[in-house]
Amino acid sequence: MGIIKYQKKEDMKFETLPNGVRRAEMLEGMVDGVHTYKCQVKAGDTVELETFGDTTQLIYVTSGECYITTKDKAFMITEPSLFIPNMDLEKNVMHAVTDVEYLQLTCFMLPEDKEWWKKWHISLPRFCPLSQCIQYTESFRPDAIKAYSILDTHWVTRMTMGAIIGKGPNKADPHSHDNLYQWYYGMPGTKFLYRAGGEEIVLSEGDFAFIPINVEHAIEIEENENVNYVWFEIEVPKGQQ
Ligand SMILES: [Fe+2]
Repeated sequence: MGIIKYQKKEDMKFETLPNGVRRAEMLEGMVDGVHTYKCQVKAGDTVELETFGDTTQLIYVTSGECYITTKDKAFMITEPSLFIPNMDLEKNVMHAVTDVEYLQLTCFMLPEDKEWWKKWHISLPRFCPLSQCIQYTESFRPDAIKAYSILDTHWVTRMTMGAIIGKGPNKADPHSHDNLYQWYYGMPGTKFLYRAGGEEIVLSEGDFAFIPINVEHAIEIEENENVNYVWFEIEVPKGQQ
C-alpha cells in the first residue's frame, strides 16, 4: 500500500501515560508537527488532560460517556463530541462514567499560525456535541450521506474536522484537495470502501487512514453497511502550497 497510509485498530500499540490515559499514536510522522492519537480512559477514572502552550489540540470523544470540567465550566458528553482546551491556560479534567475512547489531534503552531491566532480564533474552551454541528452539502456527495462540520476552516489555525454518516448502498464521487492533508477515523459500526490514488481499503470501526494532498479519493458503502467516520484535515502551510 503506497499512497493510502493505513492503520488497523488491532495494530495500535497503547502505553499508559503518567496521567493514567492509555494512548496509542496512530500513523506517526505523516506530517511534520502533527500527532494523531487514540486514547482510552476506564470507567470511574478521573484524568487530567494534556495541554500545550504552543500546539493547538482537538479532543474528539468517539465512544463512551464522561464529563469534562475546566476552571469554571462542566461539559456533559453522552454522544460523540468535540472539546478544545484553552491551550495551557487552565486545567481540564475528564471524569469517565463508562469506558471512554477519544482522539487527541495536535498541531505544532508555525510562526504564521501564531500570527493568525493572535488576529483571530474561536473562544476556548470550545465544546460541541455532534448533534449540534452544522450540516452541509457538497457537489460530489449524495444528500443521503450526511456531512457535518465539527470544526470550521481557520477557527483554530490550520485544523479542520468533520463527520460523514450514511447507509449503503451508496457512494460519493472522486475528488481531490490541493492544500489539505487528510486523516480518517472509523466510528463505531462503520465499514466502507475507501479508494484513493488507484488503491482500495476497507475502513472499519477503529481504523485510521491518511492521504497526502492532490490524491483523488472516493467512498463506496455496500448494502447493509454503514459509513460513519470523522475526518481531520491540516492545511498545507502557505509557503509549501
Ligand atoms: Fe475529500
